[in-house]
Amino acid sequence: MSLIKIPGLIDVHVHLREPGATLKEDFYTGSRAAIAGGFTFIIDMPNNPTPTITLERLEEKVELAKKAICDIGFHFGTNGKNIEEFEKVKNNPHVFGLKIYCNHTTGEMLIEDLELIEKVFAGWDSNKPILVHAEGEQLKTALMMAEKYNRVLHVCHISQKSEVELVREAKKNLQKVTAGVCPHHLYFIKDAVLKMKGYAMMKPPLGSQQDIDALWTGLNDGTIDIVETDHAPHTREEKESEKPPFGVPGLETALGLMYKAVYDGKIQEEDVIKFLYTNPKKIFNIPEQVDTYIELDPTVPYIVGENGYETKCGWSPFEGMELYGKVQKVFLRGKEIL
Ligand code: DOR
Ligand code: ZN
Repeated sequence: MSLIKIPGLIDVHVHLREPGATLKEDFYTGSRAAIAGGFTFIIDMPNNPTPTITLERLEEKVELAKKAICDIGFHFGTNGKNIEEFEKVKNNPHVFGLKIYCNHTTGEMLIEDLELIEKVFAGWDSNKPILVHAEGEQLKTALMMAEKYNRVLHVCHISQKSEVELVREAKKNLQKVTAGVCPHHLYFIKDAVLKMKGYAMMKPPLGSQQDIDALWTGLNDGTIDIVETDHAPHTREEKESEKPPFGVPGLETALGLMYKAVYDGKIQEEDVIKFLYTNPKKIFNIPEQVDTYIELDPTVPYIVGENGYETKCGWSPFEGMELYGKVQKVFLRGKEIL
C-alpha cells in the first residue's frame, strides 16, 4: 500500500442527534464516524427534537459537543419566528450558517409561509450562508429571495435534474449561490426503495437515472460545488417500522464513494479534494486546520461494513459495496487520532 496525504475533510451537513435523539447518534459516536471517514471538521444541523433556534440552545449544543473527537461547527435554525435571535448568533464563531427547511423532514422546523420565508431572508443580514432544504418550486422561491435581499445562498442536497438546471441558470446572474449533492443521490436510483425499503428513504427522495446523470454533469461543470453527506442516522428498528423516518448515515462512506467515482471515470482525482475540502472551506469560511491531514491509498479497494461501523446506528445503505481509499491515518493538529 502506498499512502497519499490529503487535508482533513470537511462535511458541512451532518445530523449528530444530540441533544434529544441520542439513541440514533451522539457527538462522540458521530465524530468517531467522521474521523473514520476522513472528516476532521463537520457542521451539525439544527433539527433536533428541541430545535437549535435560540442562543441558549446553541450554547447548550456547543457544550455537549465538547466530547467530540473532531472539530465541529453549527448551523443555526429558524422557524420564521425567531428573527430576534439572529442578531445574537450571527457573529458567534461556532455558527457557520442559517438553515431553512422548506420541506417536511425529521424535526419541527418547516416554514411554508412565503411571508415568513421572506422575513428570514430579510433578517439574516450576514455573510454566513443561508442554507435551504428546498425541493422543486421552493427552490425557485429561495433563489428569488437570495437575489432580492442579496444574500449568500447554499442549496443543500440537490437531487433532481430540474434543480441542477435552476442552479445553473441562477449562477449566471447570482455570484453568491452554491449547491451541494449527497453521495446517496449520486449512487442510488429511486427503485432502490423496492429492495431496501426504509433504508433507502430520505429527504429529498432518490431520483431517476436522468436525475443521477444530471447530478454528475453538474459536479463536472461547476454547477454543484460540494459533496455533503447529510449524515442522518436512525436505528434499524425505526427504519424497519411501518413508517420509517427519513435519512441515511454517510460520514464513513463519502470519501470511498468519491474515489470509486474516480476509479469509474466519473470525476478526476483532484476533484475529490475540491468537493470535500477546498470548496466547503471557501463557501463556509472554515478556519484553517493546522497540521491536519489524512492518509490513504486511493487505489486499494475495500468492502463497506467489513469491519463494522463507528456510527451508533450501525448500518449503511452502501453495505457490501466495493469502494476505494479507506482512511488509514488521521492527524488533527499534529496529533494522530486514527
Ligand atoms: O433524510 C433526511 N433526514 N433529510 C433531512 O433533511 C433531515 C434528515 C434527518 O434529520 O433525519
Ligand atoms: Zn440534512
